[in-house]
Amino acid sequence: MELSILYDKLRFEEKTLYDNAIKKGINTRLVDAKTISISTDINGNDVLGDIFLQRCLSHFRGLYLTSCLEFLGYPVTNTYQVTEICGNKLRTSLILAKSKIASPKTYFSFNSESFKSLTEKIGFPFVIKPLVGSWGRGVFPVKDGEVANMIVENREENDTPFSRIYYVQEMIDRPPRDIRCIVAGEQIITAVYRYSANNEWRTNVSRGGHTALAPITNELEDIVLDASKAVGGGILGVDVMEDKNRGLVVHEINSNVEFRGASQVAQINIASAMIDYVLDSLKK
Ligand SMILES: Nc1ncnc2c1ncn2[C@@H]1O[C@H](COP(=O)(O)OP(=O)(O)O)[C@@H](O)[C@H]1O
Ligand SMILES: [Mg+2]
Repeated sequence: MELSILYDKLRFEEKTLYDNAIKKGINTRLVDAKTISISTDINGNDVLGDIFLQRCLSHFRGLYLTSCLEFLGYPVTNTYQVTEICGNKLRTSLILAKSKIASPKTYFSFNSESFKSLTEKIGFPFVIKPLVGSWGRGVFPVKDGEVANMIVENREENDTPFSRIYYVQEMIDRPPRDIRCIVAGEQIITAVYRYSANNEWRTNVSRGGHTALAPITNELEDIVLDASKAVGGGILGVDVMEDKNRGLVVHEINSNVEFRGASQVAQINIASAMIDYVLDSLKK
């Protein structure tokens, strides 16, 4: 049995996953997804590996490569379905709401004019996000109409199919931190607070945020595992905010979770636990 870790940019995470798999004696290789070609000839493909851990930075590359590998009958962590939901904030918000998991109230508009009408209706401040993205890119607090108009102008100038879809979220009144929970199946591997850097509202580690170990309370465990289950499960990063009025709310689920910041404070070997999950899920 050979485990292939698919990547398109080698980060701390992929290297650590590889090292831990090798340490466990698993026949493992790092495969650059950019070098793979797949055809519809189901028996004519020469793909390296028997099981796949999909770790591409590019959401769409990872998503469609997963679809091809599943077509060929290979098990991939995470599945196409989970990656599709978690890679798209609109889809995640809808599933969380449908599953009655506490999450920020979110609105969607499908062109600039209806976005402007929406802002008049809901008022300021609010948060705007791109449908697909990570590292806090394009996640902006919008405090007044002037900023909202600049966002519209910018989107109209840099028009893509996604720029016409507006994802607007209530601003959560929270401390300057959130909680990143790394989940494998039905277990929270570790939970860390992420504190935002100076002059930065977003708590992403990629924006200079720093981490500290967070206790896994029953309340946290319940909401995080319910949220993971709602999107289909796997190896996930469930991000939770502490709303001063409502308590815990899930704002995002990452299907390609980074854990460099969490590793610095975690008491458990995160990569090792992830590899164990991939192997265990094969037995099921
Ligand atoms: N509704 C919100 N209210 C307050 N802060 C938010 C809200 N949404 C996001 N944030 C902050 O912005 C960060 C990035 O948002 P997120 O939705 O996780 O996007 P990304 O996928 O880019 O990480 C969050 O980790 C949090 O610190
Ligand atoms: Mg996030």
